[in-house]
Amino acid sequence: MAIHVVLNQKGGVGKSTITVNLAAVTADVLNHSDDPDGSSPVAAISVDPQGSAVWWASRINDLPFHVVQAHDDLENLTQLKNLPGIEHVYVDTPGWIDMAPGEEGPDALGKGDSADALRAVLNVADQVIVPIEPEPLSFDPTARTIEKVIKPRGLRYLVVINNWDPRDGTYDLNETKDFVKANGWPLAHTVIRHYKLHTRASADGQVVTEYPSNRVALQAREDFYKFALELNVGRGR
Ligand SMILES: Nc1ncnc2c1ncn2[C@@H]1O[C@H](COP(=O)(O)OP(=O)(O)OP(=O)(O)O)[C@@H](O)[C@H]1O
Ligand SMILES: [Mg+2]
Repeated sequence: MAIHVVLNQKGGVGKSTITVNLAAVTADVLNHSDDPDGSSPVAAISVDPQGSAVWWASRINDLPFHVVQAHDDLENLTQLKNLPGIEHVYVDTPGWIDMAPGEEGPDALGKGDSADALRAVLNVADQVIVPIEPEPLSFDPTARTIEKVIKPRGLRYLVVINNWDPRDGTYDLNETKDFVKANGWPLAHTVIRHYKLHTRASADGQVVTEYPSNRVALQAREDFYKFALELNVGRGR
């Protein structure tokens, strides 16, 4: 089983969107349709104390994967590796947006319940997914997340560009790719494009596998299937 943690201290870069949609497409492939009572081998976990909590709570019982809201349940977080029947766990994390440098602990994660929860999940993480938006404001927080939080722990990680609007052209996209490569960070080939549909869907608590099958919706879904293919999460046991 593998634990994928979606992490970036920058708020609003798509951590929650990526977590739930990767869980959805992975479940789409791995759920056993021949066994209607079969339990999904995919779980999504939020350690976000606020933010998307409403989203998670609103859908907790009717998604095609398990959902756990676990920010204050450290015991359970350290047990993530032992979830029976689970093959892939996706963990959504909070941004620590307003944390002043003086509030950082020695491991760059700060104090309090959500920092402790983050430590707990990073201790069991197999891989970290780092979303970045194609705009310079997300560069510094991303660098800090990778250099101060991920690398010191020796974790495997992959940066993925999210929310690129093809109508904006390729200038910012290429700047972002160059920035990632100049830092020597591994970058996913998949670029998750901006679609109004994603913004609306997250407001409605919908995941990509529930989108209608019109052309735009299929394109929007495609990015998550491509990214899941790159992550190689479609294997059975
Ligand atoms: N590819 C995309 N296309 C369109 N909208 C997107 C895309 N990715 C994210 N969004 C929208 O951007 C907003 C922020 O995304 P999201 O909540 O996933 O970010 P986050 O990193 O979890 O934020 P926070 O740090 O506040 O938890 C949401 O309204 C979401 O619907
Ligand atoms: Mg979020």
